[in-house]
Amino acid sequence: AGSGKFFVGGNWKCNGTKDSIAKLVSDLNSASLEADVDVVVSPPFVYIDQVKSSLTDLIEISGQNSWVGKGGAFTGEISVEQLKDIGCKWVILGHSERRHVIGEKDEFIGKKAAYALSEGLGVIACIGEKLEEREAGKTFDVCFEQLKAFADAVPSWEKVVVAYEPVWAIGTGKVASPQQAQEVHVAVRDWLKKNVSEEVASKTRIIYGGSVNGGNCAELAKEEDIDGFLVGGASLKGLSLRPL
Ligand code: G3P
Repeated sequence: AGSGKFFVGGNWKCNGTKDSIAKLVSDLNSASLEADVDVVVSPPFVYIDQVKSSLTDLIEISGQNSWVGKGGAFTGEISVEQLKDIGCKWVILGHSERRHVIGEKDEFIGKKAAYALSEGLGVIACIGEKLEEREAGKTFDVCFEQLKAFADAVPSWEKVVVAYEPVWAIGTGKVASPQQAQEVHVAVRDWLKKNVSEEVASKTRIIYGGSVNGGNCAELAKEEDIDGFLVGGASLKGLSLRPL
């Protein structure tokens, strides 16, 4: 871990019920959170209000997606304004499930990020390669292309956290080794240095996601360029959100 405050995000994805979420919130409220760690949870939209009204203020809330512009006649979408209205400070954009299951494209994701930032939300900008891309030696190409789409669109990196989530590690129990993750994180930082600025490269937090849990997070966190985690499955178990 190197840049900025360590960042731990819990992405609950499309999971939970009113009851299971009440239990999770009460676990989180009783957890002893480290003061020097930013903790953010991302509940399904329909439970954000419940979480906001019951969760400790020490933990911020993120949407899992947002509409690309101002709200209006966009059936099924949630606008950035609505996320703010309900108390969100962040939004996750470009998650692999939205890229590969829903079919969102780089440019569209970049526009979403620019809009969310322009309205004052922080953006958790996800990138990551699929297994076949890694095996074909294309990991960096894929990550840089996705990163470039964010870089081309966003006016400022101040509120951006980059989440490297190799698709083969998401929900599979196959976590990237600390070396595999570090290798990509360094490359991402280097890309930011060359293509954005030295300052952005050194200040932007680059977090890792993909089968992170209480058992493997300490080893990963030792790596210089791993500045936090985006946790899926394990974040549904509350206390495992603690990084160390
Ligand atoms: O956004 C977090 C995520 O994609 C990782 O999921 O279940 O592998 O921790 P999981």
